[in-house]
Amino acid sequence: MSISLNNKAFHQSPYETYKEIRSHDEFAKVKLVSGLADSWVAFSYEAAEAVLKDNRFVKNPRNVFPDLHESELLPISYSMLFVDPPDHKRLRGLVQRAFTPKMIQRLQTRIEKIAQEQVEEIKGKDRVDLIAHYAFPIPIIVICELLGVPAEDRLDFQRWSNTMVELNEDPAFSQQVQEQMIEFQQYIEQLLVEKRRQPEEDLLSELIRAEEDGERLSIQELYGAIMLMIVAGHETTVNLIANGMLALFTNPEQMTKLKGDLTLIDGAIEEILRYNGPVEFSTDRYASESFTFMGKQLQKGDHVLVSLASADHDSAVFTEPESFDITREKSPHLAFGKGIHYCLGAPLARLEGKIAIQTLLQAFPNMSLDASLSDLEWRQSFVIRGLKELPVKVL
Ligand code: HEM
Repeated sequence: MSISLNNKAFHQSPYETYKEIRSHDEFAKVKLVSGLADSWVAFSYEAAEAVLKDNRFVKNPRNVFPDLHESELLPISYSMLFVDPPDHKRLRGLVQRAFTPKMIQRLQTRIEKIAQEQVEEIKGKDRVDLIAHYAFPIPIIVICELLGVPAEDRLDFQRWSNTMVELNEDPAFSQQVQEQMIEFQQYIEQLLVEKRRQPEEDLLSELIRAEEDGERLSIQELYGAIMLMIVAGHETTVNLIANGMLALFTNPEQMTKLKGDLTLIDGAIEEILRYNGPVEFSTDRYASESFTFMGKQLQKGDHVLVSLASADHDSAVFTEPESFDITREKSPHLAFGKGIHYCLGAPLARLEGKIAIQTLLQAFPNMSLDASLSDLEWRQSFVIRGLKELPVKVL
């Protein structure tokens, strides 16, 4: 019998369930969505790392299912995250240029300014939803500026990218996904027309130049790259900030320690990533051949996922994994993945998380959680671990 994880109780508090599963199975078959075939999931740190580093697990379904029709795939499937070498290297190389240490350094001042502006918006209010008023706007404005797309359109981006990561078994939902993807695609088409006419110093113009050169980037890959950046910018760092503040609110001794010495912030960010990381599961992988892995017989085409959240709570690697300790020494967490698909945005995400949390603690040292833990609702998604809202008392 396979394990079933798709229920609200699991999303509210997954770590207990993971611990239970790890005690008897580090790599197991799981029912993720009813009606679909079971998936293999790596739960232990060892299994998780092994999957992420093993090139027999491929990302591009076209390399495993030759009969697959292109219309069954989302436009984002042409991005670096859903392809294998050699395409992967070419696509990653093109975007990598925007993520040089120098570029990140340049963004620092800009991120500080955005965080400060959001602080001004909160000032004078008694209570706010920290996600809508702080954690959400900061990474979105940054990614929009990096790409060169108008930040005013962010509510549309949010709707489209939420749809891509949401888990919903309602048959009407897949119709909705199709419709929204068409909308998203039309938006990008329009954007490209404008950017081609008036290129600027941004990632989008850079990618358009690569596409116009011919060989380096196809038009589908250009769409895929833009969608990936918009989704990555919307769904992840938001939850690093919000999950981080929640961990600090619920561990007051750690909060006091950090407020007393803000130089501990780098360690705090790493611990937040480990303890309650924003990406709960890796994206899809497939067995490219039949083989035995961690003692289990896999068939070619089997669907494989990694629970990064479970791996990062494995007591074989982390002492007292259920305790939140911002001064933890050595933390080789997998929150950004591992291997060739290791998060390209990791330095940017770390910087944003650090500035956002630091700025908030300095501006509102007495901010506190304004809900009981059981009232907080987690989003229903297997990719993202994030709250729907984080209500706080400002003073
Ligand atoms: C705290 C925030 C973030 C976390 C926890 C995170 C986590 C991850 C993880 C786990 C992967 C690998 C997925 C897999 O192997 O299946 C990944 C890939 C990626 N991330 Fe992030 N990410 C974050 C922020 C960002 C940001 C801000 C950007 C861009 C601005 C970004 C861009 C990417 C890209 C482009 C990839 C694909 C890399 C490749 O396929 O070679 N991420 N991220």
